[in-house]
Amino acid sequence: MSEIRYRKIVVERFGGPDVMRPVDATLPEPPRGYARVKVLAAGVGFTDLMARSGDYLLQRKAPFTPGYELVGEIVDFTPDGPRPAWLQEGARVAVALTKMGAYAEYVSLPLWQLVPLPDGLDPLTAAAVPLDHLTALSVLDTHGRVGAEDAVLIQGASGGVGQALSRLGALRGLRMYGTASAPGAEELLARQGVTFIDYRSQDFEAVLREREPGGVQAVFDHLGGPGLRKAYRVLAPGGVLVSYAFAGRPGHMVADTVRGAARVKLMNLRPGRRTAVSMVPSEIKGDRAWYRRSMERLLGMARSGEIAPRIGAVRPLMTAAGVHAELERREISGKAVLVTGKL
Ligand SMILES: NC(=O)c1ccc[n+]([C@@H]2O[C@H](COP(=O)([O-])OP(=O)(O)OC[C@H]3O[C@@H](n4cnc5c(N)ncnc54)[C@H](OP(=O)(O)O)[C@@H]3O)[C@@H](O)[C@H]2O)c1
Repeated sequence: MSEIRYRKIVVERFGGPDVMRPVDATLPEPPRGYARVKVLAAGVGFTDLMARSGDYLLQRKAPFTPGYELVGEIVDFTPDGPRPAWLQEGARVAVALTKMGAYAEYVSLPLWQLVPLPDGLDPLTAAAVPLDHLTALSVLDTHGRVGAEDAVLIQGASGGVGQALSRLGALRGLRMYGTASAPGAEELLARQGVTFIDYRSQDFEAVLREREPGGVQAVFDHLGGPGLRKAYRVLAPGGVLVSYAFAGRPGHMVADTVRGAARVKLMNLRPGRRTAVSMVPSEIKGDRAWYRRSMERLLGMARSGEIAPRIGAVRPLMTAAGVHAELERREISGKAVLVTGKL
C-alpha cells in the first residue's frame, strides 16, 4: 500500500460556481476502520450549491470539497473487527457522507458508511439515490409516520427530494398533492399519482381547502418562511408538518434556517398537530443502523426498478463548476451526476 495521488474539486472561498477548482491531493494509507475508495460517480444536490455559497446550516469552512453522495470501488481497507464477506478490494459501494467530500477521484471513508451495491445496479442510478431518498424516508417514516391513503402535500414535488417523496409516497399508497412550476412538472407529478399545484398561479391553501376540506395528514416542506403558517393551517387534527429545509435570504440562509427551525419547534408546543424537522446528515451520524438498513433497502429498490431517479445530466467530475452553473440557470431537469471516467 502506498499514497494515492488524485484530484478533487475544492471550493476555495464562498461564491458562485467559479470558486470551485480541481486541486491535486494525496491520500495516505487507510487508518484502522477506514477504506480508500475510488469514486466512480457522485450525485449533485441543491445542498451542494448552498454550501458552495457559504449559505448552508451544516456549513464546512472553505476550502472544502462538496458532495454528499457517491458510488465507488474499494481500493484497500484496514479492518477494525470482523469482516463481512462483501468487504473486499474491488467491491462496489454506495455512500451518503456526513460532512461532504464526494467530488473527488478518491476518498477515505469509515467502513460503517460503505454499503455494498447490489449486483447489476447501474452506478449512475445508485449515485442519485442516497441523499434524496434517505431524506424522503426520514420525512415519511421517522418524522411523518404517514400511512396508506393519508392525504399529504409535498412542497417542491418536482425536485430531487420532492421526486423521492413522490415515488416512495406512491408506493405507500398516499394521496398526494405537490407544488411545482418547472416545464413538464404536471406530467412528471402525474406519473407518480401526484396532483399538481402550480405555485406561481395557485394558492395551495385554497386548493386543499376545496379538495381536502378535513385537512391533510401531512405537509412536507423545504421552504419555511410565511408559507409555514399556511402549511400548518391545512393540516387535519393530528396532522404533522415536517420541515427538511428553510429557504432564506441569500447571505442569511444559516440565520434564517436556525430561525425557521426554532419556529417549527415552537409550533409543536400547540396542541392538536405535530411539527418536526428532518436533518439527514445528523440522523446518519446518530443512528448508523438506520442508515445502513435504509441504504440497503433503497439500493435494493433501485435494483428492482421500484425507484428510478431521473438522471438529467452526466458530466465529468472536473466540470463540476459548469454543472453548478447549469443547475443555477435551471438548464438541467433531473439529477446531475459527476463521473470520473467511463462506467
Ligand atoms: N434535511 C435534509 O437532510 C436535506 C437533505 C437533502 C436536501 N435538503 C434540502 O432540501 C431542499 C431541496 O433540495 P433538492 O436537492 O430537492 O432541490 P431541487 O432539486 O433544486 O428542488 C427544489 C424544488 O423546490 C421547488 N420550488 C422552488 N420554489 C418553490 C416555491 N416557492 N414553492 C414550492 N416549490 C418551490 C422547485 O420547483 P420547480 O423547479 O418546479 O419550480 C423544485 O421542485 C434544499 O434546500 C436542500 O438543501 C435537506
